[in-house]
Amino acid sequence: MAVSRVWIHFAVVVLLVSSCFSPAVAEESVSEEPSSVLTLDAANFSETIAKHPFIVVEFYAPWCGHCKRLAPEYEKAAAILSKHDPPVVLAKVDCNEEINKELASKYEVKGFPTLKILRNEGKNIQDYKGPRDADGIVEHLKKQVGPASAEIKSSEDASNLISEKKVFIVGVFPEYSGEQFKNFITVAEKLRSDYDFGHTSDAKFLPRGDLTINQPTVRLFKPFDELLVDTQDFNVDALENFIEASSVPSVTIFNKDPSNHLYVTKFFNSPHAKAMLFLNFSNGNFDSFKSKFQDVAEHYKGKGIIFLVGDLDASQGAFQYFGLKAEQAPLIIIQNNDGVKYLKVNLEPDHIATWLKEYKDGSLTPFTKSEPIPEVNDEPVKIVVANSLKDVVFNSGKNVLLEFYAPWCGHCKKLAPILDEVAVSFENDANVIIAKMDGTTNDIPSEFEVRGYPTVYFSSATNKIMQYDGDRTAEAIINFIQKNRDTDKETLDKEIPVQSDSGKDEL
Ligand SMILES: *[C@@H]1O[C@H](CO)[C@@H](O)[C@H](O)[C@H]1NC(C)=O
Ligand SMILES: *[C@@H]1O[C@H](CO)[C@@H](O)[C@H](O)[C@H]1NC(C)=O
Repeated sequence: MAVSRVWIHFAVVVLLVSSCFSPAVAEESVSEEPSSVLTLDAANFSETIAKHPFIVVEFYAPWCGHCKRLAPEYEKAAAILSKHDPPVVLAKVDCNEEINKELASKYEVKGFPTLKILRNEGKNIQDYKGPRDADGIVEHLKKQVGPASAEIKSSEDASNLISEKKVFIVGVFPEYSGEQFKNFITVAEKLRSDYDFGHTSDAKFLPRGDLTINQPTVRLFKPFDELLVDTQDFNVDALENFIEASSVPSVTIFNKDPSNHLYVTKFFNSPHAKAMLFLNFSNGNFDSFKSKFQDVAEHYKGKGIIFLVGDLDASQGAFQYFGLKAEQAPLIIIQNNDGVKYLKVNLEPDHIATWLKEYKDGSLTPFTKSEPIPEVNDEPVKIVVANSLKDVVFNSGKNVLLEFYAPWCGHCKKLAPILDEVAVSFENDANVIIAKMDGTTNDIPSEFEVRGYPTVYFSSATNKIMQYDGDRTAEAIINFIQKNRDTDKETLDKEIPVQSDSGKDEL
């Protein structure tokens, strides 16, 4: 539902994931030079991918700035990789072209650019999750075109492959055959864009390890928590679940270190309730907060709530999103899967465990992002904030037209004088209120669905709620209000004799 959209949006904001989601201003495309990147369209797509065992396809749109930035890097990488053995072919598809729209939807392209790695005549499709500079692309693809799991034949191999900063998964097998080995390779192929895999016949090459692994074992090295963890369950699904579960830290770290971003993305995409502690990592008390938070995270592991600690330095996006101020840190905010939020500001390390317990017991009061209720509110268009919305819209017994706007939105600015005119025309009508709420600084109650700005709603005196989709002229809006307002009690009493259902249908 809506919550996950909000979370993904938030993750996009905080991580600045580079994708275009909708057209900006269209521009002329620049002149063509001989290119190492293949241009594909719907007519020659299948035959081309059938010809190349390993091909990378960029789905792009000419108007997208991120695509333009990628283009020279992609071109450079394609030139270098064209000489690689085995060959790595880079191609692109212009999704703005009508004939390619079906391709884009077949490959589930949701933003631009989207890069996919296609193998085996396109039967094996994998998201490209590597860097976007030429050297990074080359390095990443060289690794992707090789075997999914690298053989480790010496301690030197092991120390070259297994880094202290990344998850690495090793299969230890007496021989490289049989069901268990086959399953391991299947999983490695499936998850290779997210994790690095290796296999060895001798556990003594592995770092940090005991030498006593004497049966086929999968060992996952990780740069956090218990540092390594083993499984002997070689069922493909079980192995995949083991890897996904063991590679998430009990507390996700959110700072500017890019090696944490994979975990941050997983955190925000998770369906569980999220507890987020925000504080200044450079302050002296960081360690005591971190260790108390870690204890709580271990305690609630597997109980439907996950944990993140964020550095103030990296968290401006989150603070803006939740309407928080840096002075309130250290703070914890919990958001459950219905979007309900709980907040504790000016936190001490010792508060963490008790507060989490109160959350679990359901004894906390939810927190709403709201601007302060204005002391003066005497313009024709009234200001509504999250904390006054109930009183103004639902409990006032009045007919309310409410605009949700954003300060940066041009269409809202155009609508403003029109709403003023509407408000002035109802100034002597005590039963009609024209109001506006800044949707970026106030939580929007679930009665309203706001997908863009401006969004205008009307709530009648008896709280019949409808969205206004008509013309943005004063006349049209006034007519709409007159048509849909609940008749005043006195008028009702006079007019009621005729039993009529004339023209009062819901929209
Ligand atoms: C596919 O067709 C397009 C349009 O005709 C052409 O520009 C492109 O070079 C073709 N690509 C290949 C690999 O044949
Ligand atoms: C965090 O604390 C350090 C050291 O006290 C200080 O220099 C820095 O400005 C603080 N950062 C923020 C974002 O408050």
